[in-house]
Amino acid sequence: MFSKNSIIGVVGSGAMGSGIAQVAATAGHKTIVYDTDADALEKSKTNLTNSLTKLVEKQKITDEKAKEILNLTSYSNSIQDFKNCALIIEAIVENSHVKQEVFKELESITSETCVLASNTSSLSITSIASACINPEKVIGIHFFNPATLMPLVEIIPGVATDLIIANHCQALINSWGKVTVMAKDTPGFIVNRVARPFYSEALRIYDEQIADMATIDWAMREIGGFKMGPFELMDLIGHDVNYVVTETVWKQFYYDPRFKPSLTQKRLLEANFLGKKSGRGFYDYREGATLSEPNKDEVLGKHIVNRILCMLINEACDTHYLGIASALDIDLAMTKGVNYPKGLLKWADELGLSQVLITLNELYSEYQEDRYRACILLKKMVKEEKHFY
Ligand SMILES: NC(=O)c1ccc[n+]([C@@H]2O[C@H](COP(=O)([O-])OP(=O)(O)OC[C@H]3O[C@@H](n4cnc5c(N)ncnc54)[C@H](O)[C@@H]3O)[C@@H](O)[C@H]2O)c1
Repeated sequence: MFSKNSIIGVVGSGAMGSGIAQVAATAGHKTIVYDTDADALEKSKTNLTNSLTKLVEKQKITDEKAKEILNLTSYSNSIQDFKNCALIIEAIVENSHVKQEVFKELESITSETCVLASNTSSLSITSIASACINPEKVIGIHFFNPATLMPLVEIIPGVATDLIIANHCQALINSWGKVTVMAKDTPGFIVNRVARPFYSEALRIYDEQIADMATIDWAMREIGGFKMGPFELMDLIGHDVNYVVTETVWKQFYYDPRFKPSLTQKRLLEANFLGKKSGRGFYDYREGATLSEPNKDEVLGKHIVNRILCMLINEACDTHYLGIASALDIDLAMTKGVNYPKGLLKWADELGLSQVLITLNELYSEYQEDRYRACILLKKMVKEEKHFY
C-alpha cells in the first residue's frame, strides 16, 4: 500500500505538524505541509532548517542528508497540492467540527486509496471519520510531542476503519523508526488515559494535605524512579493542556470518578498560572523565588509512590481488560510515550498482583468511593494466581 515513493501530506504546520513532516521526510518521503496561516508555514520552514543545522552540528546526520530532507519537504497554502498523496496526517486545532470539515475536503480532492489520518489527542476518530464518504480509510495516528524525539506512535482504528489499512499504517510508521502500539478508539487512547492517575492521585494526596508537592515530586522521582514528579511535569506540560486533557477524558467517560479533575489545578488555570511557560504554576519560576524543600521521610515517600503506582496499575489493568490494547502495547506505550521507568503491568507482576489489590481495597474501604474500585481483571488474576508475563 505504501512505499518510499508514497507522498505524505501534513495538514497544520504547528508544533506537531512540523515535527511529523520532519519525521516523514527523514524517512525519505516527499512531504507536503499545508497550513491556512502563511506565518505558521514560514515559521515551520525556518524551524526545520534550524533543527537540521543542529543535527548536522551534533553529527547526528550528514550535510547531504539535511539537504535531502529539505529538498523532500515543501510548504503550501493550497490544499489542492495534496491530490497525489498516499497518506495525509492532520495536525490542526483540536476541534471536532473543524477537523470534520477538513477531512471532507481532503476526501474530495484525493484518490480513493489515500489514507486520511488525524493526530488528535482527545477526539473520537470514529466521529471525525463519520464526515467522510469512505470512513474505512480514516484512522488515528497519534504522535507525541516532540514528534521528532518521542518514539511512540499510537495507531487508532475507528469503528469503521479497515483493519488492513490500519496494519499498513502501522508498518509504515514502524519503517520510520517509531515504536507503534494499536489502541481502540476510546477517550485518551492508551497514554492519555493510563497516565491520568499520575497527576490526579498526586493532586488528591496534595489536596488532602497528606504531603506537599515538593515531597510528592521527590518521592515519585527518588523512590518511584520516574524522571519527573507529577507537579513539575504538570508545570512543564502547562495546565492549559494537562488540565484540559484530564477534564476531557473525565467528561468522555461519563464523569467516572476515577478521572475526576482537581479544583486546585483548575484554579491555577483560571489564574493563568500555566506552569513554567508563564513563570508560575504549582511552583514559582520567577527570578529570586525560593524552592520548597521536600520532607524526605522514607515511610511517607513509599506510601505516596505505592498509592499513585497502584492507581496507575489499576488503570492499565482496566485498559487491558476492556480490550483497548494488549498488555505488551500498554507497557510499551507508557515506557516509550511518557518515559515511565517500567511497564505498569510488568511492574504489577513484580510488586505482586495481590499486593496491588490489597492497596486498592484499602483505599476503597477507607474512602468508600468508586474512584478506588479495583479492576475486575486484577481481582480475577489474583484469585487464579496469574500474572501478566
Ligand atoms: N501539542 C501537543 O503536545 C500534541 C501532542 C499530540 C497530539 N496533539 C494534537 O495535534 C494537533 C495539533 O496540535 P499542535 O500542538 O501542533 O497545534 P498548533 O496550534 O501548534 O498548530 C496547529 C496549526 O494548524 C493550523 N490550522 C488550524 N486550522 C487549520 C485548517 N482548517 N486548515 C489548515 N491548517 C489549520 C494553524 O494555523 C496552526 O499552524 C491537535 O489535534 C492536538 O490535539 C498535540
